[in-house]
Amino acid sequence: MTDLSLGGDAPDCADGNGVWLACVECGAALAPFDDVVYRCPDCDGLLEARYADYPTFDEFDGSGVWRYADALPFEEGVTIQEGDTPLYEVPDVAAAADVADVRVKHEGMNPTGSFKDRGMTVGVRVAAELGVGRLACASTGNTSAALAAYGARADTPVLVLLPAGKVAAGKVAQAALHGARICEVDGNFDDCLDVVAELADRGEAYLLNSLNPFRLEGQKTIAFEILEQSRAATGEWPDRIVLPVGNAGNTAALYKAFRELVAAGEMSESEMPTLTGVQAEGAAPMVEAVEAGRDHVERWDHVETRATAIRIGNPVNAPKALPGIYGTGGTAVAVSDDQITEAQRMLAGDGVGVEPASAASVAGLLELRERGVVAADEQVVCLTTGHLLKDPDAAAEAGGDTTAVPADADGVLDALAD
Ligand code: F0G
Repeated sequence: MTDLSLGGDAPDCADGNGVWLACVECGAALAPFDDVVYRCPDCDGLLEARYADYPTFDEFDGSGVWRYADALPFEEGVTIQEGDTPLYEVPDVAAAADVADVRVKHEGMNPTGSFKDRGMTVGVRVAAELGVGRLACASTGNTSAALAAYGARADTPVLVLLPAGKVAAGKVAQAALHGARICEVDGNFDDCLDVVAELADRGEAYLLNSLNPFRLEGQKTIAFEILEQSRAATGEWPDRIVLPVGNAGNTAALYKAFRELVAAGEMSESEMPTLTGVQAEGAAPMVEAVEAGRDHVERWDHVETRATAIRIGNPVNAPKALPGIYGTGGTAVAVSDDQITEAQRMLAGDGVGVEPASAASVAGLLELRERGVVAADEQVVCLTTGHLLKDPDAAAEAGGDTTAVPADADGVLDALAD
């Protein structure tokens, strides 16, 4: 039975700041920084960071991810000024969605262009605490770009495993320039994760995929920002947060933020925004699980979508994320690649440039409005997870064509008249 309850006294193994790791399956408690550990040594369950105290909004101070230091395992980390991303109004999307309010939390505005930076600023700080010599991840691209940058900043070597031929150009370029060792694997993302997890188990590298519980601590700050920004903008918290799902790390992280706010007495369970996950039709094991009401996901061996960031068949954080969807009264929905492209164009029409996986959130909102699952009186926030420039090929394909013209004004005007 998954146990995500917070609170209670800190166990003896907690560190001086009242931080420990708990297994979400068997409840075992572990010292946070004595050994390198990713899963429960007893039952192989996922681990979660726990704290003796959970802060209220009053205790947050400063800006960016480290504004929320009281909810994180350290006071500061390896930072490139991540977080503090905009919550945009999006008139075209609002008109199409026809709900009380819709805004876009654009995580593409982070230093390396995706939300992964929030996880890395914390995760790479933990790696320094543990004194590891090499950082590693499997990636559909954005994790590798972020880890490469934060590893470079921390002067720690980085190894990334990418599914060969399936990572968008901008992301590979980032990992290359920031100096990561890039291995292209003959397999999909899930195969890459299997391999890098084995390398980590053998002590060859410190794993910074979202299986690492400290990464999700950083990503939790997305929820804190959405709640603070929404309240500042509309006076209320959103009813619903719609987000793309790959490994389901963000779904798990957002739910953890809500649970902590409940533990701190800031939020009632009924005030938790409903977590609504969106996957591409060709890679939708979470949607399949939610539609069947299951508490586990069955791995898809063959996955395909234009939204390569979420081309994932085995969402490792499902045991934490499914309770988040069920516990907030949320749902999950699959959208086609065409719907994703349409939503990407619609966001672009609002001046917001996102990569395909990000547009899945808006596509999912529109699909659920159409089905009557999302009601007209709802205030909704869609999470857009990565920047347009991450995947320039997809952007160029979704966008308009270029016109060849001679180098004179009349020639340009002639071409425009055609
Ligand atoms: N959106 C983007 C742009 C992503 O890069 C990812 C995951 C997701 C959504 C899904 O988030 O895993 O928390 O459900 N990208 C990972 C990577 C897998 O390797 O960059 P999730």
